[in-house]
Amino acid sequence: MNKDLSNIKKTKLLLDKGECVAIPTETVYGLAANAYSDKATCKIFKLKKRPKTNPLIVHYASIKMLKNDCSLNKSFINLYKKFSPGPITFILKLKKNSKISKNVTNYDQTLAVRFPKHILTRKLLKKIDYPLAAPSANISSKISPVTKEDVLDEFGKKIKYVLDGGRAKIGLESTIVSLINKPQILRLGGTEVSKINYALKTNIKFNRKKKKLNSAGQGKVHYSPGIPIRLNIKKPRLNEAFILIKKRKQYSKNFYYLSKKNNLKEAAKKLYKTLRIIKKKKYKSIAVEKISNLGFGEAINDRLIRASKY
Ligand code: TXA
Ligand code: MG
Repeated sequence: MNKDLSNIKKTKLLLDKGECVAIPTETVYGLAANAYSDKATCKIFKLKKRPKTNPLIVHYASIKMLKNDCSLNKSFINLYKKFSPGPITFILKLKKNSKISKNVTNYDQTLAVRFPKHILTRKLLKKIDYPLAAPSANISSKISPVTKEDVLDEFGKKIKYVLDGGRAKIGLESTIVSLINKPQILRLGGTEVSKINYALKTNIKFNRKKKKLNSAGQGKVHYSPGIPIRLNIKKPRLNEAFILIKKRKQYSKNFYYLSKKNNLKEAAKKLYKTLRIIKKKKYKSIAVEKISNLGFGEAINDRLIRASKY
């Protein structure tokens, strides 16, 4: 049997038994469990050391199964057709008779739903008869994983299995849009807000300060490499790791390029991996060159600002 297929089968067997395993997505790796099971979803919180009050995103293969759990509205259908499967998460109204575990929603009447694009995870989702609750596969408040090795770096032997899907193509989490009342962006991410606005014919903007602490995991400290980060720096201090986005003439071994050509999409993809590499090199702090706030730049800056409040 093809190796990927046998790995998907192994993942399914563990999930069917109520275990929690890591799965690849195009954004970051997720720590997945049966979203209908209290016991299975409980394991996610324990392994991640995640506060029970922070709800989880639920992953579906298609709208068909989602209809059992959520009421769908026009804006959702519009955005679903344009961006799913892909790096966008929708907050929808939960149906009263839904089987989604209360652990997932923290007893709220809304649900975060996403249709991941990664081929292995799509195949897996089509084979199981329940959706998958899956937060990013990192210890709470730490850097999100973009490879199997990153997941093992976070959990070591504590994780039962990681379905290896190679390196995540986007490298940043999904954009979260609430469609409960007026559309609202709760988290910046892999789908640009300008594209969402174009599809909805709106002009919504992300406002970090307006968010409730619980919504969209906008806890102040997140994505943290555990050392201080200084932003908008022209010249780093001695022995400080320096994150750059444009090529400089001189070479220095403490330079870490997210891109050499100011390519923001490439930079987003490299951000978490670069932070993880720097952390391992035992630098005491990180300086970051100014990154433009356009397109993916806004999401990169959002993550860096939160990572800097370590
Ligand atoms: O790209 C992604 O979205 C990745 C991959 C694995 O799909 N997942 C991910 O999950 O980033 P997580 O748990 O690390 O971040 C999702 C955020 C949480 O911080 C949570 O607060 C928020 O979504 N969230 C979940 N349910 C919500 C809800 N009903 N209303 C508002 N925010 C919600
Ligand atoms: Mg996360």
